[in-house]
Amino acid sequence: MSDIIVKPRGTLDYLGDEMKLYDSVQSELSKMAVSYGAIKAEPPIFEETRLFVRGVGESSDIVSKEMFGLNTKGEHDYVLRPEFTAGINRLSIENKLYASPDLPIKMFYCGPVFRFERPQKGRLREFNQFGVEFLDKKIDLLTSLDCLILYYRGGEKVLGRDLKLRINYLGSFQSRENYKKALKDFYAPHLSQMCPDCQRRYNENVLRILDCKVEEDKELNKDAPLITDYLLPEDKMQLEQVERALDELNIGYELDPMLVRGLDYYTGLVFELYDPMNMDLGALGGGGQYGNLMKEIGGPDFEGIGFSYGMERLLLALSLERKNKMLEEETTAMDFFLIDLRADKDNKPVILADELRSNGLKVASSSYGKALSGALKMADRLHSRYSLIFDDYNPGKVLIKNMNKRTQDEYGLEDIDKLANHLCGLI
Ligand code: HAM
Repeated sequence: MSDIIVKPRGTLDYLGDEMKLYDSVQSELSKMAVSYGAIKAEPPIFEETRLFVRGVGESSDIVSKEMFGLNTKGEHDYVLRPEFTAGINRLSIENKLYASPDLPIKMFYCGPVFRFERPQKGRLREFNQFGVEFLDKKIDLLTSLDCLILYYRGGEKVLGRDLKLRINYLGSFQSRENYKKALKDFYAPHLSQMCPDCQRRYNENVLRILDCKVEEDKELNKDAPLITDYLLPEDKMQLEQVERALDELNIGYELDPMLVRGLDYYTGLVFELYDPMNMDLGALGGGGQYGNLMKEIGGPDFEGIGFSYGMERLLLALSLERKNKMLEEETTAMDFFLIDLRADKDNKPVILADELRSNGLKVASSSYGKALSGALKMADRLHSRYSLIFDDYNPGKVLIKNMNKRTQDEYGLEDIDKLANHLCGLI
């Protein structure tokens, strides 16, 4: 045998129970997004590199270090998408969704994204995001709160427990400029001792330094000025309105002035969600408001707010109890299991299965070579309610075995429609 080819580092194979849980989480979140008036969208998995350079920003790690470039023989410079937000905004411009009289535009999505990171628990190179983007000429308080509440309630529903919400407000353009100046003044005397990434960030986007994971820089950041001290009165008022709403909704949160998020497009409210029982996983999801992204990528003057959960992190945070409950609900138990032991086969079992499946029933079968005892064990493993046995001891008949009661009946094979009707009546 030649050597075995394994999956690339930092990727997952989804199958079995994990696949079922993934589908169940996706379906739960999709239903919630629909209940907020969102519709599903699906941009391509690869896009032009400049979409992310302009959209997400060159100073972000995601764009500067982690993009998967594609060798496309010089046609265009393409990358696998490292996130959805820029693609959803591009899609909204290209399909002129902004011209709709029905604003805000509300979309949700789920699928793979790619970042060339160092793989570890909850950190993959191919992972899946579920998220929403709400777009409007001006994102008002109601739309912001709708997004934030969907974000919190979605995670809470999937995991079945209270989560830890962190919020911050990056302010309007003017407050951020004032804050950036204060940060630059603060870091300037320390710059030569800071890590090379932070020296680059100092010029490209000084806010990024607050996100640095290098121990010495993290220590320095503890004394850095706080954005909350630089917010203009109207920014402060908006933040207070969000805080008041969260209080009235009984959603616990922490105002974290150091929360700046790793992407450059954020302008107002930003937020991250953590599971107190799995803090080592990092954020289960992140999001926030962005004021200039659409314009940056050639669209109209629209704003947006959105979030993305990391699906793998949600799955890792699921308790055993939640998993079992989801697997129970997501039952793939078979209604009928076909076992054909006859020496001379005909197509009657296939025709019968087709008829039963057309009636919405679930029908599986064993391969021809399997002996009766092995086939019945397989029927049990698939939680089949009835086995249908075709054998040479009962020519022209099918044995109908009730797998729970272990009782047996028989029925003639002359009229398959009649037989199918009889079987449908059993379920
Ligand atoms: P993000 O914070 O870069 O935001 O990613 C969102 C979530 O994706 C994270 O909170 C985490 O759960 C998951 N995630 C990120 N990197 C990895 C990884 N390497 N392996 C596994 N999971 C990971 C965004 O992507 C923004 N587009 C969110 C957003 C939507 N903002 C506005 N709208």
